Amino acid sequence: MITLDSLTKSYDDHLVVDGVSLELPSAGVTSIIGPNGAGKSTLLSMVSRLLGVDAGTVDLDGLDVHRAPSREVARRLAILRQDSHTPARITVRELVELGRHPHSKGRLTPACHAAVDAALARCDLADLDRRGLHELSGGQRQRAYVAMVLAQDTRYLLLDEPLNSLDLVHATALMQLLRTLSDEHGTSVVLVLHDINYASVHSDRIIAMRDGRVVRDGTPEEVITEEALSDVYGAPFRVHHLDGDRIAAYYR
Ligand SMILES: Nc1ncnc2c1ncn2[C@@H]1O[C@H](COP(=O)(O)OP(=O)(O)OP(=O)(O)O)[C@@H](O)[C@H]1O
Ligand SMILES: [Mg+2]
Repeated sequence: MITLDSLTKSYDDHLVVDGVSLELPSAGVTSIIGPNGAGKSTLLSMVSRLLGVDAGTVDLDGLDVHRAPSREVARRLAILRQDSHTPARITVRELVELGRHPHSKGRLTPACHAAVDAALARCDLADLDRRGLHELSGGQRQRAYVAMVLAQDTRYLLLDEPLNSLDLVHATALMQLLRTLSDEHGTSVVLVLHDINYASVHSDRIIAMRDGRVVRDGTPEEVITEEALSDVYGAPFRVHHLDGDRIAAYYR
């Protein structure tokens, strides 16, 4: 379990994460939704130690994330940032191999190669592994970053808008893959999504943020309602029932 206790962050005088306390489970798929600027990425960045906290703590299965050695954190938790980029010109395979760094100390073992191959295959990149990252389409590149995070092979997977640039088929495939990792490998997946219908259909739990706070936290049945979504986003959503799922719409 990851326990967030009173996490707080300000930029200048602007409070962007306002004393958030939460327990993220050690299994299952948890989606974080909310409008632009709600503080979702800032929260995830603090949980994964990409960003320091102004106040509060993050406990990762007994490890104080902001005090523990970074390798210890990286063996348990992987994060896909919203704005991934690598400066050097590297191939897809080389990028995914970087995900093994916390395990390999720079020397890839047979287990590392197997994990890299599996991650490439899962992200439909097996045929593109020798390509330079700069030679890919936006969606292919996004899948390469997801593969890098999967290759890290951690109990906790934090993904900030992993569906960015993906077509509907690859987006659905990725959500199905995350569901499978959770169901069959016991991975805890925590992801930020703007497409609330993917959150609705594939999550066990949905956390909604607005103005740096958690304003809803519950099952899709509890959070994907016209009342809750209208409150979270300040817009009049409609919620339809389709094949047993709740599908939200706001187009006009
Ligand atoms: N480095 C920074 N300096 C100043 N303000 C920042 C910085 N990073 C984020 N902010 C501000 O903090 C607030 C929360 O940003 P954050 O990136 O966490 O939002 P978000 O919920 O992830 O939004 P989005 O859906 O657009 O990704 C925003 O108002 C943003 O402008
Ligand atoms: Mg964000």
